Amino acid sequence: MHNTYEILEGMHYIGASNRIEPRFENMFPLTHGIAYNSYLVLDEKTIILDTVDSSISQVYLENIDYVLNGRNLDYLVINHMEPDHCANIENIVRKYPDVTIVGNAKTFKFLEQFYPLLKNYNQLVVKENDVLNTGKHEFKFLMAPMVHWPEVMFTYEMTTKTLFSSDAFGSFGSLDGNIFKDQIEFNENEFRRYYANIIGRFGVNVSAMLKKINNLEINMIAALHGPIYRKKEDIEFVMNKYSLWSSYIPENQGVVIAYASMYGNTAETCNKLATHLAKLGVNHIQIFDVSNTDASYIIEKVFKYSHLVLGCVNYNTKLYFPMVNLLEELSQLNVQNRKISFISNATWGGVALAQAKEIILKNKNMEEVGLPIEIKSSLEDHQLDELAALAEAIKTSL
Ligand code: FEO
Repeated sequence: MHNTYEILEGMHYIGASNRIEPRFENMFPLTHGIAYNSYLVLDEKTIILDTVDSSISQVYLENIDYVLNGRNLDYLVINHMEPDHCANIENIVRKYPDVTIVGNAKTFKFLEQFYPLLKNYNQLVVKENDVLNTGKHEFKFLMAPMVHWPEVMFTYEMTTKTLFSSDAFGSFGSLDGNIFKDQIEFNENEFRRYYANIIGRFGVNVSAMLKKINNLEINMIAALHGPIYRKKEDIEFVMNKYSLWSSYIPENQGVVIAYASMYGNTAETCNKLATHLAKLGVNHIQIFDVSNTDASYIIEKVFKYSHLVLGCVNYNTKLYFPMVNLLEELSQLNVQNRKISFISNATWGGVALAQAKEIILKNKNMEEVGLPIEIKSSLEDHQLDELAALAEAIKTSL
């Protein structure tokens, strides 16, 4: 059964939410679901902005039928060729064979890779600043390479000043009837978790994109995930967050402690450090066990806070695998400008500390704070002073 929402006269939300799918990209837990957004504009010509994930194809195709109400579909714009948005292109072409697919040169390269049968199918290849007129509406195309993938572009509808921003400004979390940010209890953590894990690596490209759209008058941002932003303050809010995050500057002073601990001794040491910090007046301390917390949640906090303490345990002489995973992800996401401290634990042998440093300190402007606490199986009394000194060093560097 169709389920649509007219967001502006003639402009319809035709996406849907998925609360069953356990993981996004088969990797990131979807604790609060996910929305796959798509938009259909009725004008002298009809036009769809991106399709949706295959998991919601049925309602999506019914939505298109319902909004078109017997009309044909003239254009399908592909702002992003990743399957969570392009999975219904073939379905649309089958139902509306006269449709023209609109994309840039890279879009069509990827289209052919995913859907060889669509090679050279009714194409309109656009480039920077090209405009497509559908009657009352004018859609301008702005390239936004690597604001997730190389082919990504934004579409700016000039009469309503609506920016269709692809993945940018998107968020994890379903849409539950209300689809505008000003109507919901906006989950900033999920907004940040989406940015940090999906787009975080591409700060340079996000900065370039922000420069490009800074001169646009924007009344509404319609991303491919998460709520639509239509209030001036909400548009400013998400633009400001992206500006900060793309520069890798921490939002807040605070200490994220992430530890690996098989038998509780490294955890106990980290807990003790946290208490020291709290007694020194440090606020915003958060502790995570890397074995029990998906890395994406820890990464979200690392993007937010200034300091990171790593409790690194040895395993088979090397760094414990879930900690390797966290650090490699942080490294790949280009996390920069953070202050890092280390606690390591080995009962016998091992290179966990050196390995952790090698992975994480090579990123830009990563500063080691204090001396590492190297424990052998469990923290010994004579190391309490070292722990206190590490807490002092962290406090001083805040
Ligand atoms: Fe929502 Fe890059 O796909």
